[in-house]
Amino acid sequence: MRIVEVGPRDGLQNETAPIPAAAKIAFVDALSDSGVAEIEVSAFVSPRWVPQLRDAAAVFAGITRRPGVVYSALVPNRQGLDQALAAGADKIAVFTAASETFARKNINTSIEGSMARFRPVVAAAHAAGLPVRGYVSTAFWCAFEGHIAPAAVIAVVNRLMAIGVDEVAISDTIGKATPEEVARLFDQLRPHIAAERMAAHFHDTYGRGVVNALAAWEAGIPAIDASVGGLGGCPYAPGASGNVATDDIVAALEERGIPTGVDRRRLAASLEHLAPTASTPAVACRKRAPRSAPPAPSPRVRSAANTRPAKADGPLQPGPSTSVGFSGPRRGR
Ligand code: HMG
Ligand code: MG
Repeated sequence: MRIVEVGPRDGLQNETAPIPAAAKIAFVDALSDSGVAEIEVSAFVSPRWVPQLRDAAAVFAGITRRPGVVYSALVPNRQGLDQALAAGADKIAVFTAASETFARKNINTSIEGSMARFRPVVAAAHAAGLPVRGYVSTAFWCAFEGHIAPAAVIAVVNRLMAIGVDEVAISDTIGKATPEEVARLFDQLRPHIAAERMAAHFHDTYGRGVVNALAAWEAGIPAIDASVGGLGGCPYAPGASGNVATDDIVAALEERGIPTGVDRRRLAASLEHLAPTASTPAVACRKRAPRSAPPAPSPRVRSAANTRPAKADGPLQPGPSTSVGFSGPRRGR
């Protein structure tokens, strides 16, 4: 299983207190040593929308690249691509959504508009020799539109493939999907896109990130996104949740004899580089001591039907809770 570590981007974009570029660089370098296949290092997005990642170029410039590891960057438009190319990113990721409302809130354009924006970006990335990932956010549920029909996801996946993306990341932005929904969607996507071209991206809001990742693995998906320590949220911040934790994913896969190539001690140690600088509890409280052996399977890993009823069954409200699993733009204007 290919582990895509998205903590430096998806995890840190949620942090409100500035984290120095040096800490981010040390964090990425430590992740490089942990054995993950790919690291989403940062995002070349508008600094008005995501101030925390305004130092993306400095972070790319400072990291030590380990041969074999793919260092990718999130890019919303041509301006972002040019910066990613200048920074020497190995791969870029464009991002749209299956929910029209979310697309507008996240990238200030419609789904249609995003495709028009991405087409030249994908062509230029390919011309420069870079593979392109296309994220489909809100592939299961949207904080604004509720349940998202698989047909809407399939339509966006087909559009992304038509403009030439190499990989599609099916994303549960608010972490509300169940393993059954995951299995069903990948099943429905199969006639449209080869499983090998997909990745699964789960947020862990309702504690189903691991079982959802296992459902994706069972569906033949070869890549799972995760954030070390579940960065991006905090148990003390109700309603906020980060990506599924890389450490949990690695443990769950290895318990099943599925190799990941990741050293869990080194993985956990990477968080040390953030602890002294990150002032928000999101980083500090998710810091975990390295465990010497994989934990016994938790009930939620064993039971695909597991939910946290109180939260999982409650309605999703737009408003502050819409930042669940997603930092949301913080516009400075
Ligand atoms: P806009 O305001 O419509 O952009 O935002 P614009 O083209 O009108 O430009 C406005 C200003 O932004 C201009 O600067 C541009 O130069 C600047 P000004 O003249 O006003 O000083 N600008 C940029 N600056 C740096 N880099 C750029 C860039 N582009 C424009 N690339 C835009 C449109 C797409 C730029 C904006 O909406 C944006 O940056 N959005 C990013 C939001 C974001 O990063 N969200 C989080 C990541 S997505 C996510 O987390 C989901 C995911 O994890 C999967 C999942 O879980 O679902 C991937
Ligand atoms: Mg995400």
